[in-house]
Amino acid sequence: MNAVEIKKDVYWVGVKDWNLREFHGYNTPDGSTYNSYLIMDEKITLVDGVKAYLTHEQIARVKSMVDFSKISYVVVNHVEQDHSGSIPEIMKLAPQAVIVTNSAGKMALEAHFDTTGWQYYIIKTGDSLNIGKRNLSFLTTPMLHWPDSMMTYVAEDKLLLPNDGFGQHLCCEALLVKDYPNDLVMKAAKSYYANILLPYGQQAEKALSAAGEMKLDIDMIAPSHGLIWSGKEEVNQILGAYASWAKGETNHKAVIVYDTMWGATAKLAETAMAEFQDAGINVVKHNLGISHISDVITDVLDAEYVLIGNPTLNNQMFPRVAAFVTYMKGLAPKGKKGLAFGSYGWRPGVAKEIKQVMDDLGWKTADVFEEKYTPKSDVLSQFAQRVKEFINL
Ligand code: FEO
Repeated sequence: MNAVEIKKDVYWVGVKDWNLREFHGYNTPDGSTYNSYLIMDEKITLVDGVKAYLTHEQIARVKSMVDFSKISYVVVNHVEQDHSGSIPEIMKLAPQAVIVTNSAGKMALEAHFDTTGWQYYIIKTGDSLNIGKRNLSFLTTPMLHWPDSMMTYVAEDKLLLPNDGFGQHLCCEALLVKDYPNDLVMKAAKSYYANILLPYGQQAEKALSAAGEMKLDIDMIAPSHGLIWSGKEEVNQILGAYASWAKGETNHKAVIVYDTMWGATAKLAETAMAEFQDAGINVVKHNLGISHISDVITDVLDAEYVLIGNPTLNNQMFPRVAAFVTYMKGLAPKGKKGLAFGSYGWRPGVAKEIKQVMDDLGWKTADVFEEKYTPKSDVLSQFAQRVKEFINL
């Protein structure tokens, strides 16, 4: 189990989680990686830990380069356990090492672990740390993804180590974006942004502009999940995508998400889909009995129109619709146009609860459309008309 050089004297010493299929509710069919980097300078520096159960693999990769007693600094960019799980073991092996983190990072480490005897070097945005031939500088990026999140920049290598930022839940043999189909990496990066970072668009915009103010010259972005962006073209590709997602830019596209018990809400969903197709608008349809909510939200990220269809069950939202609406509410996509629709047996009104969530998110919404039991052709025509009006909202 060896380290892999990604820049002269900078090594990948991370781990691959081939079996990961779920990440706090997010469907991860392609696994993930927890990337860690070892900088072999006068003061040897390890950047980030890995998930606890793969600690032995990270340790083996570090040991392929250096004994832990020679490590001077351990940079902790983020304390979520997929990046800090191995830190207690690392600190046992390298008690002389100083942890480099920000004040929120120190607080989070102390809240998670027994940190007795750990030494810290606390940084804030713009601070730098000389490790020999290199100077590390730091950018705190609160809420990307936790309050403690920060990024480390190595000017001499034009290398940004942004932890969760620009990552993808993707596990494969390749280490570099250029060695994997680009469309699949971008799909994974988009899904990652939608499911992890979407609520923090403002903070992402702030971080991007702070990086601009610091005039960071970047030709490699090595995140802590997935593949490494190398070369200006790839760096600009992912920075451009983040700028667009953070601003909430949309494509002329609709997402219809629904569930159904006896086919009534499905009929309404099909009617809506036909209207978008006839209008020449790109449209995708997700049945929540089949699609995972994390795939749906990935489609919602850059959609202009979001339609949510609910089959009323026991006077409530259908449980899978409720789960999606709750997930969406937390991720808080902005700038959409929303239409809630559905069917009911004896109590109408549940679609209004969905519309309320859309309103609370600041979306432009149409009046809800609900039908008792099965919609007949005249009702489907009325709904088609409602969708036509919605398209022009
Ligand atoms: Fe990859 Fe927020 O942890």
